[in-house]
Amino acid sequence: NWTPGNIVEEQVAAIRAQVGSKRAICGLSGGVDSAVAAALVQKAIGSQLTCVYVDHGLMRKDETEQVEKDFVAATGAQLRVVDASERFLNALAGVSDPEEKRKIIGREFIRVFEQAQLEILQEEGPEVAFLVQGTLYPDVVESGGGEGTANIKSHHNVGGLPDDIEFELVEPLRQLFKDEVRLVGSELGLPEEIVQRQPFPGPGLGIRIVGEVTKERLDLLREADAIAREELTAAGLDREIWQCPVVLLADVRSVGVQGDGRTYGHPIVLRPVSSEDAMTADWTRMPYDVLAKISTRITNEVADVNRVVLDVTSKPPGTIEWE
Ligand code: XMP
Repeated sequence: NWTPGNIVEEQVAAIRAQVGSKRAICGLSGGVDSAVAAALVQKAIGSQLTCVYVDHGLMRKDETEQVEKDFVAATGAQLRVVDASERFLNALAGVSDPEEKRKIIGREFIRVFEQAQLEILQEEGPEVAFLVQGTLYPDVVESGGGEGTANIKSHHNVGGLPDDIEFELVEPLRQLFKDEVRLVGSELGLPEEIVQRQPFPGPGLGIRIVGEVTKERLDLLREADAIAREELTAAGLDREIWQCPVVLLADVRSVGVQGDGRTYGHPIVLRPVSSEDAMTADWTRMPYDVLAKISTRITNEVADVNRVVLDVTSKPPGTIEWE
């Protein structure tokens, strides 16, 4: 019978059997899945695990600092933070196609993990043979990994992985849905702030800029996203909303009027959704006054944005993320 306690017990045994006395690294993204995967593996193999947080420059405001603080405080795990923002931005330069972006991001993650592997080898001895990922069942299905399923989009840690990967993967959550992962996280003693965090995709803001990803566009989107998150939290909507991607239509401009002049700026899309497992979703009927506040603040405070639009599409036919 399914209980979080049984899953923990079963997975701890499976991880010990798989990893043996070798070492593993775990990519942390700041999200629920990688945090729970790391905590499970930490429970199974303790100091044989090193967590690696890759700052790819596609994070939201203050996210990196939060991972450094919250996760380490909660688990006591060894953490390395790698600043790889330049590397990711260079690799993404000139690329607008969503699948191409996803594959580049998936590949660069692995290249950074390989570098971390070398450093750990030099500093601490035996080679790292395993890479822990917080892959969930829906990630596998949507990347076309399930039987008879189409490739909807390549999740960075499944279909986005490069072919020449040398790590053996440890994926203790591969059969679970998000709500089950949250229960397992609580069972492992992770705090609410981590376990109840809204989903955020590994490729980060890179797949929320429709068009080429540049530093300027990321800065702009980060500001808009921070405002939306602040207002949703202030309105007490964090639990009701599954997640709310904030998307920059970087290649679209529209005419506006601000102050005493004409503007020709970009639209920002709000995509609040309600869901059980992200496989299907509906757009959240959220209060108009909260939408109005977010819109006013974004257009007032974020340069080059003169319009805020609401995505009222369920999944299907839309996916949650725009890319
Ligand atoms: P879609 O856009 O497919 O998203 O409806 C379903 C859920 O998955 C998240 N998502 C990802 N998470 N790596 C991740 O870690 C990815 O490449 C990825 N793509 C989408 C998305 O935020 C939503 O929660």
